[in-house]
Amino acid sequence: MNDLEKLKEEALLELKQVKTKEELQEVKSKYLGKKGVISSLLKKIREIPPEERKEFGRKVNEVKSALEDALRRREEELKRSELEEKLSKEWVDLTFPLQRTAGKLHPITLTLERIVEIFRGMGFQVEKGPEVELEDYNFDKLNIPPDHPARDMQDTFYVNREGHLLRTHTSPVQIRTMLKQKPPIQIIAPGKVYRRDDDPTHSPMFHQVEGLVVNEYANFRHMKFVIEEFLREFFQTDLPVRFRTSYFPFTEPSAEVDIGCVICGQEGCRVCKGTGWLEVMGCGMVHPAVLENCGVDTEFYQGFAFGMGVERLAMLLYGIDNIKLFYENDIRFINQF
Ligand code: FA5
Ligand code: MG
Repeated sequence: MNDLEKLKEEALLELKQVKTKEELQEVKSKYLGKKGVISSLLKKIREIPPEERKEFGRKVNEVKSALEDALRRREEELKRSELEEKLSKEWVDLTFPLQRTAGKLHPITLTLERIVEIFRGMGFQVEKGPEVELEDYNFDKLNIPPDHPARDMQDTFYVNREGHLLRTHTSPVQIRTMLKQKPPIQIIAPGKVYRRDDDPTHSPMFHQVEGLVVNEYANFRHMKFVIEEFLREFFQTDLPVRFRTSYFPFTEPSAEVDIGCVICGQEGCRVCKGTGWLEVMGCGMVHPAVLENCGVDTEFYQGFAFGMGVERLAMLLYGIDNIKLFYENDIRFINQF
């Protein structure tokens, strides 16, 4: 009986000194395992004189349950201190002063703001139109015939069969403005447009800024002056600019404006496709049919319009050679502006 008491004390002491789960497991199997001290004691019960067996058995069981209790408690303690250690290691200092970096505006936003500011300075008002547009405003009223290739499913994202589409250019804002406002009109309309386009200089979503001037005397020279003046202000330098004759159903005569490729200094590169020139906008005198479609009296009024590609201008301004960089939202890219 004394030995049993001693055994219990030893075991409890061993348990107290246990530092890890593994050590705890060792102590557990040493005393309570199948081949452990307690079970070998219980096997010896037959060697005990019968009159002492009952008392012996009771004592062994008492030691056993004392050990089991102690083991359970020690296990809890170990778990708790393990958790405490983890918590203290992974502690987060909520008062730690952060090095906060201010957010930056996206280069397209910066470019749009730059464009809008220049035109505001020339007395233009800013108009907005919806990105989901009526086919009638995006095409029909702009004198774009039903069989025009731009209307093809290959080029245009249609929203439904009831005449709704994602506008392919900002020109429908010309229509919206003329339908609600009598001349004189002098507006720009910045916004997103959508096309089934995808290469280093074309993206399925991009931005345009439309311009429209309608009054009694607007002519091609006014338009050329406004555009050249804008480009000079925008690039803060005299870049080579050329007006190339072109065709748009909604303007007559029409032109496209190219500027010398600043990526390669007009040597020819991937961006300008080896030509040294980059098309940045379309323009022209508003076609009389368009004015009439909007109820503008062509006896008294004429106008000019232009539509520029914002990504193109941003690429040239910042020297970016792939339009995709604008849409990846890589913070290392955006932080450069
Ligand atoms: C038009 O969209 C006409 N609405 C412009 C216009 C307005 C002409 C008013 C006359 C009067 P165009 O499809 O060429 O034209 O596009 C205008 C500009 O948008 C292009 O010069 C180019 O800079 C840019 N652009 C066109 N497609 C893309 C594209 N997929 N990704 C990025 N920029 C584009
Ligand atoms: Mg074009």
